[in-house]
Amino acid sequence: MTFVDKIFYNQTAKKQSEKGGELILIKRVALLSIAITYVLIVFGGFVASSESGMGCGPEWPLCNGDVIPEMKGETLIEFAHRVIGFVLAVMSIILFIVIKKSGVHQKLKNAGRLMISLLAIQIIAGALVVLFDLPTIIVTFHLLVAMVFLFALLWIYRLSMPKRSRQSTHTQMGKLKTNIILLLVMIFITIGFGAYIKHQHYGIACGWLDCGNTLLPVTEAQIFQTIHRLLAVITAIYTILLTVWVGKSKYGKRIMKRFLLAAFIIFIQLFSGVITILTTISISWAVVHLALATALFMIVADIFILVMFDAPLFHVTSKKQIDEQPLSRI
Ligand code: HEM
Repeated sequence: MTFVDKIFYNQTAKKQSEKGGELILIKRVALLSIAITYVLIVFGGFVASSESGMGCGPEWPLCNGDVIPEMKGETLIEFAHRVIGFVLAVMSIILFIVIKKSGVHQKLKNAGRLMISLLAIQIIAGALVVLFDLPTIIVTFHLLVAMVFLFALLWIYRLSMPKRSRQSTHTQMGKLKTNIILLLVMIFITIGFGAYIKHQHYGIACGWLDCGNTLLPVTEAQIFQTIHRLLAVITAIYTILLTVWVGKSKYGKRIMKRFLLAAFIIFIQLFSGVITILTTISISWAVVHLALATALFMIVADIFILVMFDAPLFHVTSKKQIDEQPLSRI
């Protein structure tokens, strides 16, 4: 190796290890942000179920006229939700800056842009929720944006990870892609209807099986509640059928494990929905119901990312190879 080669080699190796370090940082911050977002969504459900949403009054960013309010009752609950939201916003901005400065792959930058735009929308929606005294449409929108935000973080996380298996060469990848898009959309819509009936207080307009004297809904509240239940059952059957099909079609362990988990969660989710109604919407069951819905969305979103984007930027077969990737791949 000549002197010039050595310098070039050292510089390339240095740049590569810097990029590797940045990717590890992105991965860690993304993972932490995913965990905080999950907690924030579920805690948001608790804020709504305990009717603490106006605990800071119709004010934002101040809380009852103060930066730090008197910590008690519903004020404490709503303020805690805002503090977690603030921590998440700071983390997301840091994540965005690291991605932008690192000059890593374009896909990662796109995911970063999506994430930060959703954060901005979410902050505005959160403010509108309190300023306009919890309008159902905006609260529902707020939850749905939170789900897409979670999706963007998952995408960033997956893009910053090394891939240990080769690109899938399964002949029916197109079929799986179509099904996973449909499943994710169905879960998303079911979540939207769930949030809508919750905030309209339509939750017990019908029982878990029928609507009073009849199976068919009549009033608006009954219709919306029934759509949520029906969509949920159709989505659950679809998930279980897909899981069986994926198992038979041998799409690989990574996909199979996630489908099995999704099928398991949706099965418990149906029960939690029934119990939520039977307990005339007990706060704890309503929160469990949201926690499971969010977990379900995350798992299916993760399958979506793996299947649609074949996410990770690196193609490696062993841990050692992560450090040996040519810069051009990064
Ligand atoms: C795929 C399955 C399901 C998903 C993804 C799902 C999702 C959701 C979500 C996200 C909410 C709003 C929670 C919140 O904002 O705190 C909700 C509310 C609700 N869901 Fe479901 N759900 C499913 C199945 C069911 C089933 C099978 C039933 C009834 C048999 C049911 C009954 C309810 C009720 C009554 C509410 C309102 C709870 C409240 O007022 O706090 N859900 N659902």
